[in-house]
Amino acid sequence: MRIVGFSGSLRAGSYNSALLRAAQQFVAPDGVLEIASIAEVPLYNFDVESSAFPPAVAELKDRIAAADGLLISTPEYNNSIPGVAKNVVDWLSRPADDADRVFKGLPVAVMGTSPSRFGTALSQNAWLSVLRTLETRPYWDGRLVIPNAGKVFDESGSLVDAKVLGFLETFIAGFFEFARRESRPRALSS
Ligand code: FNR
Repeated sequence: MRIVGFSGSLRAGSYNSALLRAAQQFVAPDGVLEIASIAEVPLYNFDVESSAFPPAVAELKDRIAAADGLLISTPEYNNSIPGVAKNVVDWLSRPADDADRVFKGLPVAVMGTSPSRFGTALSQNAWLSVLRTLETRPYWDGRLVIPNAGKVFDESGSLVDAKVLGFLETFIAGFFEFARRESRPRALSS
């Protein structure tokens, strides 16, 4: 099982990037959680798409197309998906006739953390319509919404709250099991 994950935040001290790194410790020995950077993904522009498709996007598309699943660690901005994160998925869905290779039938999990009391619940809900449109197989059996990020991560970005670590372990185990069960035919990913 090879899952690709990205954090929907660009900042160095991102709690969501820290959450993704913390998730790696709970991957079973026969699995891998590869963290992909979104730092090189430009703002979506059809003129760029049609003249000089960004290599960083092409590479990320190929990585996801060949993976068994995608894990998005999402912040929440103004009760929805941050533009930076949505922009990545918009690029990955282009050109439209190549979107199925990347997304159709792909197991996808969304998790997130924020310093507020609500912990990205509304952002995660907003991802649902995006993931449905792309005909993915969203993992909704478990939910990982982590409020009070400032208290559960230490200053070096380590997740230190034992209870939250337990939730993360359960979520990651559940998603890998789901991805194994729901893995799409290889023909789609070549
Ligand atoms: C926020 N933040 C925020 N938090 C939240 O729980 N609900 C929200 O609606 C918002 N809205 C919001 C809008 C904008 C423009 C910013 C910049 C921030 C706070 C946000 O959760 C916080 O900055 C996190 O630290 C962002 O995630 P990373 O970068 O730590 O992963």
